[in-house]
Amino acid sequence: MNAALPSAGARYARLTAGPGPGHTGRVFEAKPLPTGDKPALYAELAQQLQGLLAGETDFIANTANAAALIYHALPDLNWAGFYRLTGNELILGPFQGKPACVRLKLGKGVCGTAAATRQTVVVANVHQFAGHIACDAASNSEIVVPIIKDGQLFGVLDLDSPKLNRFDAADQAGLERLVAVLVGATRF
Ligand code: SME
Repeated sequence: MNAALPSAGARYARLTAGPGPGHTGRVFEAKPLPTGDKPALYAELAQQLQGLLAGETDFIANTANAAALIYHALPDLNWAGFYRLTGNELILGPFQGKPACVRLKLGKGVCGTAAATRQTVVVANVHQFAGHIACDAASNSEIVVPIIKDGQLFGVLDLDSPKLNRFDAADQAGLERLVAVLVGATRF
């Protein structure tokens, strides 16, 4: 294994692009993230995401890398990924976590509500959200951020946690910033 790559145990990896011996592309270096300070953590993650997506506009590549970065950097998640809007349905995109529901109707569930209202939805306890769609029985709280570019809705970012009340206003602001980085870098 290349020592410059983040190990499986490096949950809070700082991904720093740089040349590596024997590599023609970029390699990444694992460094600790400020986990006790959410604004600082998300500021750092936004920088990392910017670097990770630099020079790439492909939707699948960028959402796949964004899901992996988020899932491995943020504590207490059991699912992190994307749904893409197609017609009046959200269709499963790149994610990390257990296999998930494939098609969600606009206006239904947490994802469909965030998409229909074009607003981030924070759910402290999914068992009290009418119409919540349970894909993983381990999920207890959830946040869904709509992906909007030039006034057009393209899908949502969805994070699930086994902890109740896992997501707060700092998570909402931080994740909306990460989605803004994704939107700026990606051709939809
Ligand atoms: N819980 C979501 C469905 C998607 S999964 O959580 C991955 C919802 O209610 O829309």
